[in-house]
Amino acid sequence: MIAPRLVHWQRRHGRNDLPWQNTRDAYRVWLSEIMLQQTRVSSVIPYFLRFVERFPTIHALAAADEDEVLSLWSGLGYYTRARNLHRCARELVAQRGGVFPSDPSELERLPGIGRSTAAAIAVFAFGRRAAILDGNVRRVLARWEGIAGHAAEPAVLAALWNAAERHLPHDELQAYTQGLMDLGASLCSRTRPGCDRCPLADDCVARREGLVAAIPRPRPSRVLPVREQAWLVIRRDDEVLVEKRAPAGVWGGLWSLPEAEAHEAVEAPALALRRFALRTRAGAELAAVDHVFTHFRLRARPIVLVCESSGAGGVADETARWLALAQADAAPLPAPVKVLLRALGSSERTDASQNGPAGFEHGFHST
Ligand code: ADE
Repeated sequence: MIAPRLVHWQRRHGRNDLPWQNTRDAYRVWLSEIMLQQTRVSSVIPYFLRFVERFPTIHALAAADEDEVLSLWSGLGYYTRARNLHRCARELVAQRGGVFPSDPSELERLPGIGRSTAAAIAVFAFGRRAAILDGNVRRVLARWEGIAGHAAEPAVLAALWNAAERHLPHDELQAYTQGLMDLGASLCSRTRPGCDRCPLADDCVARREGLVAAIPRPRPSRVLPVREQAWLVIRRDDEVLVEKRAPAGVWGGLWSLPEAEAHEAVEAPALALRRFALRTRAGAELAAVDHVFTHFRLRARPIVLVCESSGAGGVADETARWLALAQADAAPLPAPVKVLLRALGSSERTDASQNGPAGFEHGFHST
């Protein structure tokens, strides 16, 4: 039995005053669990606080436009989560008056909610009995039971879910569930685990057999392919041209700098003319931007193009807009693009341009 020890340990050593705890507000619980997928607690906290301040209820979130949701998410990564979050809010408001189901299997049918997240919401918001199995919890159970192999293998994953279900107690589910998460995030870390202080150490198979370092087996390391690209930094006065990205793929739904193949960099002004009917000349060179995604490394070379005549160009539609540099921080842009534009803006900002144009949502400015 691991539950009594975990519950006792959680109460003494676990986390009990995170901003999404001590509430039964399913909206806050759901929002936190989505943010905590693939992201650690310390990174999530400021995003969570900004989010609930701007969108205190699911109705407020459902009524927002996608760009504003993505702006608030910018920097947290894995943007599919943000788009699914928004879809989920809209679906719940349209179909259920904004009320979350309490049943894990119903929760799991909503956008962005998998089996473990559904269980976490059901436990924390509704006191239901359901088993979680996120990355940290997999490590705790794999070690305690001595389940070798990688969770990417279906048989290993099935064995872990089986363990998660078997250990589930009948009461004190919140402390138990939080305890599993907290132990996985602290003492039972991947490297340098603190077995001497662990409440489950006495009968942990991995510990007994000297396999703590070997379980879970690390994912086979892959050398990520490098994708080279050019980014068109098209400048018009203190503004820059941004494009809306397709919903699928990396940075889906965010706004970003127009992209080109690396070999097209030499003909960047011709591209600007063809794609945006803008006459430009080459400007200053900027440092390359490197960014690591799950499946590849991006190396982007920003090419500054300065518009020949102020106010020129037929750019003002749903997919391409002018963005004031001073407003870049508040816009739904990928974090590395914000860094780039911030540097560009601060190198030449004047007091007059700091205010930005008034009356345009999220800092956008149409021609
Ligand atoms: N990871 C996923 N959900 C979590 C939670 N509610 N608290 C801490 N870490 C988590």
